[in-house]
Amino acid sequence: QKKVTISDLYQKKAEGRKVTMLTGYDYPTALVLDQAGVDSVLVGDSLGMVCLGYESTVPVTMDEMIHHVKAVRRGLKRALLIADMPFLSYQISPEQAVLNAGRFMKEGGAEMVKLEGGAEMAPTVEAITRAGIPVCAHIGLTPQSVSKLGGYKVQGKDVAGAQKLIDDAKALQGAGADMIVFECIPSPLAAAITKASSMITIGIGGGADCDGQVLVYHDIMGLSGRRVPKMAKQYLDLFGQLSQAVSQYCQEVAGQSFPAEEHGFPMDPAVVAQLKF
Ligand code: KIV
Ligand code: NA
Repeated sequence: QKKVTISDLYQKKAEGRKVTMLTGYDYPTALVLDQAGVDSVLVGDSLGMVCLGYESTVPVTMDEMIHHVKAVRRGLKRALLIADMPFLSYQISPEQAVLNAGRFMKEGGAEMVKLEGGAEMAPTVEAITRAGIPVCAHIGLTPQSVSKLGGYKVQGKDVAGAQKLIDDAKALQGAGADMIVFECIPSPLAAAITKASSMITIGIGGGADCDGQVLVYHDIMGLSGRRVPKMAKQYLDLFGQLSQAVSQYCQEVAGQSFPAEEHGFPMDPAVVAQLKF
């Protein structure tokens, strides 16, 4: 199978074929995603919440991200691997951002990096792309600044808010971003920016007219153990099925129906007979 490149995704946009993206945080999940044919896998800093148990994405470190990016790298043959820059790994200076984006490429084997923020991030996006690293921007609900936004809520509903997102997208495109995530913005706004933009637009709560869609793996699989957010669709209830399997295992061990004879290793009775205890 041929590897997915950013040019392939631009081609899809040009032809009106939708780009598929899901988050993934480990090797077995990467195998599933790749073999099922998803275009791109995002090692999102959402891993802090869904895999590491943090309250928000703010505490996630570069080292934690790299650990997971490397695991996902080993599982992908085909899908484009995108690494999410965690809080404070790119906000301090463009130099800091290039160094950390470079770590994702060199150590993690990523093919693109993602960072949150609007026009204020344009110089940073420019520095990273000038270093030869493709960038995916992320505007709308940007979870790393949830304290500043005052909660996880839809962005760009009024004229000023919507205009800011339009201007942000323009600035990020001008700075060289190839892709942009719209998180929780009104569908007509996402559609209009998509139409006006040369970047590949990816929605998560951005409606059907984005160039592609992304969701958090644990949400669609029902693995998070919490109610899924409005923009997600839950395809499976793995949390329930896994809990069920664990309690069945515990019951069988307690009730001595596991292990059965076939799960053990026999020994020749003649050998047993010669042993001294
Ligand atoms: O961290 C993440 O998973 C993300 C996607 C939801 C876009 O940023
Ligand atoms: Na993220």
